[in-house]
Amino acid sequence: MTERPEHLPHVREATPADLAAAAAWVTTAAECERWAGPDVTFPVKPEAIVRQIEFDAGRNVALEDDDGLVAFGQALPRGGGRVHVARVIVRPDARGRGVGRALVEALIARARESSASLVTLSVYSDNAAAIGLYTGLGFRRSQRPGYDTRSSPSLPMELRVGRWRPEPSGGRALTRSSGALGPGVRS
Ligand SMILES: CC(C)(COP(=O)(O)OP(=O)(O)OC[C@H]1O[C@@H](n2cnc3c(N)ncnc32)[C@H](O)[C@@H]1OP(=O)(O)O)[C@@H](O)C(=O)NCCC(=O)NCCS
Repeated sequence: MTERPEHLPHVREATPADLAAAAAWVTTAAECERWAGPDVTFPVKPEAIVRQIEFDAGRNVALEDDDGLVAFGQALPRGGGRVHVARVIVRPDARGRGVGRALVEALIARARESSASLVTLSVYSDNAAAIGLYTGLGFRRSQRPGYDTRSSPSLPMELRVGRWRPEPSGGRALTRSSGALGPGVRS
């Protein structure tokens, strides 16, 4: 169990300057690929990464602590009630204190706000910290092939955040539920 942050970080919409600051936390090409996938070139160029990660296409979330930006992540709408979580990163000195969990919870909240019923993500299968984070929040290995998994070591995961239930009137209403319905992660 990681230590909880003493003060919960403040959550806000991220700016391109936040993205550039977060990108500076990755110091090698391998770290960059694990964080941002194969489409982002290293060394990261702030003007290029905005386009490479579809910054303007989704919700970009920043967490701030007393020392400034502490985490960054994206919730990207993919249609069909699906939101894809991407580029999750915590400032290196702040890891292991629950910040990553707070960030992904904020991204899931953004997905819920957009009426998504499924949150997906891709994680490198040797990224134990990230897999532990996502599994702890209820994500499970996805059996749906073919989304955002261009890199071979990538493990698709998903979290069901809502489901449709028929209303007595015959219409349809969204009933929120947390927890995953998918099959468990295999090591
Ligand atoms: C992955 C990452 C976001 C985790 O952030 P974090 O703030 O350290 O995570 P938290 O402290 O909130 O930990 C939440 C859970 O993650 C898991 N976890 C965190 N660090 C871990 C580690 N080093 N080893 C194994 N599990 C770990 C644990 O299950 C933990 O739950 P617990 O508190 O019940 O033990 C962070 O390590 C990071 O920024 N990594 C580099 C970028 C990256 O790989 N992003 C993921 C792209 S898919």
